[in-house]
Amino acid sequence: MPQYQAVKGARDIFPEEAARWKHVEGVVHALAALYGFNEIRTPVFEYTELFQRGIGSTTDIVGKEMFSFQPDPNGRSITLRPEMTAGVMRAALQKNILGTAPVQKLYYISELFRKERPQAGRQRQFSQFGAELLGVSSPAAVAEVITFMMQVFDSLGLRGLRLRINSLGGTHDRLRYREALQAYFSPYRQKLDTPSLERLEKNPLRILDSKNPDLQEIVSGAPKLYDYLDTEALDDFDKVLFYLSERGIAFDIDHRLVRGLDYYCYTAFEVTGTELGAQDAVGGGGRYDGLARELGSSSDIPAAGFAVGMERLLMTMEKQGLFTALKLQAPLVYVVLQQQEYTDVAMQVTFRLRKSGIRTEADLAGRSMKSQMREANRLRCSFALFIGENEVATGQYTLKNLVTSEQSTLPLDRLIEILHEPASGE
Ligand code: HAM
Repeated sequence: MPQYQAVKGARDIFPEEAARWKHVEGVVHALAALYGFNEIRTPVFEYTELFQRGIGSTTDIVGKEMFSFQPDPNGRSITLRPEMTAGVMRAALQKNILGTAPVQKLYYISELFRKERPQAGRQRQFSQFGAELLGVSSPAAVAEVITFMMQVFDSLGLRGLRLRINSLGGTHDRLRYREALQAYFSPYRQKLDTPSLERLEKNPLRILDSKNPDLQEIVSGAPKLYDYLDTEALDDFDKVLFYLSERGIAFDIDHRLVRGLDYYCYTAFEVTGTELGAQDAVGGGGRYDGLARELGSSSDIPAAGFAVGMERLLMTMEKQGLFTALKLQAPLVYVVLQQQEYTDVAMQVTFRLRKSGIRTEADLAGRSMKSQMREANRLRCSFALFIGENEVATGQYTLKNLVTSEQSTLPLDRLIEILHEPASGE
């Protein structure tokens, strides 16, 4: 085994797989343009407090999954971003982009880092595509981000994904609910584990996320947030559901859905797939009006967004057989050198073909003509262009169609014109 391996939880993407990523990314970019979202790129690391404030100190992500380090002995701690939403909001506030245009529609395809136990569909470095709609708090805005996400799935040909949706209400709803949860869990103090006891004081909602099997029975008897929502929250939720129904987007209402990040309010949602095993969440999101204030803004900034795990999306597509037709783009022409002394001419011809926009490959290793032809076939080139004594003397080159075996001998400029004709594949 080679001495150096990729870090646990990180993986390499080789060309065949990269072609799949590019295909998915292409669909994301095209649909983002269709829905009017513009791309944002933020730094890979941020000050650690951003995530502590933004995502919430009692969440699993902040509590145990962040890669944090201190670049200078007395410097501020820095964290590799575990998600994008806090960084995007930080960037929007820092540049005050909402001051110039009160609604901002942003999207990203980005790498993220979480110190989780690696397993199928769960990595320490992973990628998400996602969108954030800042500045509007209407059910229409929430429906818009969900619709965008679902249309990406649709355009990729995915089937059978399940959208679960819930309302977490406004701040006042959750305050009442919090008290109800504290009252409910307090008599079980003896049975709660240490993280749950800590959460009981700081953020009892997070106890509902507990994966501890011994607590499941207690958790399942807890009051439901939905019962604490006021009419405004209920009407808001109904309107979101109305828009989704109008668009033919199927969903399941799931009152147990709380999500793993603290910034959500009102609508929250998650998309799961049946092909993924234990890590079945493909994406998730919701409204997060309070995040801006957590990050120092003087008022709430209404916002909604989602993120989809690229690896899980690609795994699902693979399981559904959606990549069979996808191949690496083959070169159009292979420049075949018949005598080594004409290497310089072959290099010059290769350059001219590429300069004129024709995908061209040539031998760089001084291989025999036979192995050059084998390579041309392995790469699935459509044409071979031969360079030999005759060609150099006359300035006329032979182009062979490797599929039909048809040949034509013409000056290079004329061959370039032929290669540009649509029938040749360019
Ligand atoms: P999240 O639910 O933490 O939400 O992550 C979204 C998706 O990222 C998950 O559904 C999953 O597909 C993928 N994911 C998360 N962790 C891993 C991992 N360790 N390995 C592989 N895939 C992973 C957020 O991150 C929010 N920022 C979403 C959002 C945007 N909310 C509002 N705007």
